[in-house]
Amino acid sequence: MNRRRQTDRGDVRTPDACDPCGTLVTVKREILTVGHPLLRERAREVDPDELASKEIQALIDDLVDTMRAANGAGLAATQVGEMVRIAVIEVDHNPRYPYKPKIPLTVVINPVIEPLDGELVEINEGCLSVPNLRGNVMRHVNVRVRHLDREGTAHDDVRRGLTAGTFQHECDHLDGRLFLDRVEDTTTLATWEQFERFHRKAFVERITAFVERVGS
Ligand code: NI
Repeated sequence: MNRRRQTDRGDVRTPDACDPCGTLVTVKREILTVGHPLLRERAREVDPDELASKEIQALIDDLVDTMRAANGAGLAATQVGEMVRIAVIEVDHNPRYPYKPKIPLTVVINPVIEPLDGELVEINEGCLSVPNLRGNVMRHVNVRVRHLDREGTAHDDVRRGLTAGTFQHECDHLDGRLFLDRVEDTTTLATWEQFERFHRKAFVERITAFVERVGS
């Protein structure tokens, strides 16, 4: 498992990616940042027999704790240097993305995403592994997501809108891709401070109308 883990408790102090002042927050695992080679590798499938192991269950708990401590909407195992196809997603009044519809805590293992049609939406994204930068990416609006949960139960759901975007972002991590790779118009790149100042209002107006239309 992760050799960068500092102590048995695993608590690491790291700058909060969304806070330009660099306030220190305590998280369970160190979140790797862009430039770390492991963020660029494909993670391996989890064998269903492995799922019940203490290591995998502890990793899932750590991912949830780390995501919540860092105010992430999701966190993939690769972001803490564990090369297995596991990600956690949760949105509940997220201060980083207050316009995102709620998503109850979802543990996705071995996810497979399939676009249901050609409809795309331009979403402004950020990432805990890309501190203090946001940019616009195109995402599929309607996707089918198949995955296992932490008990090994298979799920097959349709996800739409911003929620579909969040699932695509996390699954990209498991293939070694960052949202940066999908930014076509690099003039949309902005620090969180400049996004707030110059771009937030127009984006939130557009995306709020989109969420109302699509339903999530
Ligand atoms: Ni990310």
